[in-house]
Amino acid sequence: MNPESQLKKLNHLLDIDQLTREDILYIFEFTNKLESILKRAVRKVPVLRGKTIINYFSEPSTRTRVSFENAGKILSADVINMSSSGSSDEKGESLLNTVETLESIGANLLVMRHYDSGAPYFVARNINIPIINAGDGSHAHPTQNLIDLYTVYKQVGDIDGLNLTILGDNIHSRVARSTTLGFSEMGANITFCAPPTMDAKYLSNHSTDFEGVHWPKVTYTHDIKSAFNNADLIMVLRTQFERKSNLVFPNINEYTRMFKLNEEVLGYAPKNVRILHPGPMNLGVEIDGYISNSDKTLIKQQVKNSVSIRMALLLILIGDYSLDSI
Ligand code: CP
Repeated sequence: MNPESQLKKLNHLLDIDQLTREDILYIFEFTNKLESILKRAVRKVPVLRGKTIINYFSEPSTRTRVSFENAGKILSADVINMSSSGSSDEKGESLLNTVETLESIGANLLVMRHYDSGAPYFVARNINIPIINAGDGSHAHPTQNLIDLYTVYKQVGDIDGLNLTILGDNIHSRVARSTTLGFSEMGANITFCAPPTMDAKYLSNHSTDFEGVHWPKVTYTHDIKSAFNNADLIMVLRTQFERKSNLVFPNINEYTRMFKLNEEVLGYAPKNVRILHPGPMNLGVEIDGYISNSDKTLIKQQVKNSVSIRMALLLILIGDYSLDSI
């Protein structure tokens, strides 16, 4: 089956393991075409006119929510933003009643961020409109992963065979999980570097998780020097203080001293290494401000690509997305 017809069967985007390498490359090709719209004087096309997208977020977000809103508006959809805060969530309404209400109001698609891992899966089973998982607890963030893959594909080239080191708080990170699945599907080798207490042991080599996902090989190290030695890419992860269910390091100074990306430790990596960070960054904790602005980083490109990738995903789920349609 060709990727275009395979993607027609995609009812929701819940995690990156729903997509094959061929699907991902097709999404890149389509995204690349959509970027021509962003270069026009009037950045608006009528392809989703009459469709209503609701961004339903129960956790804070800047990049994901604003880029989905911008993507929907460029495609002429009506976009409604809703946060748990200020909604009937605060009066105790159940998740199911909330999303059924949004469906009845006329949503054609829900973009959903939720603090509970698995919440978008539950919703997808219970309502009849497409769901895009915009980050669920510490489980998955598939659209961020597509953005990161696309950024590397554009700026570095073929991902097959690249060595990616994921530095920092992987145990709480939905990005780490989706990154592992997506970059492995594209042929990259993954190394996690973190304090032992921050190792996501559930991503142990070749195990199968509660959803039956078969995990690719991951190398774990606590030694930043060996983690950077052969790295083509370093992805720095935010230290998720808000999710710290138990103490994962004695104090922040010790963590920063041993695992922060600064000029000194960057010297362990090859000269042409490129740096990713999904954001938001805790400057001075997991990465130095100076490094975050250096020409080695792809961080601004990641944010820029978030609009076109999300335009592509909206069209795949509720529009026409053949390569000739744009
Ligand atoms: N990367 C990411 O999801 O950022 P936001 O939380 O700002 O959306």
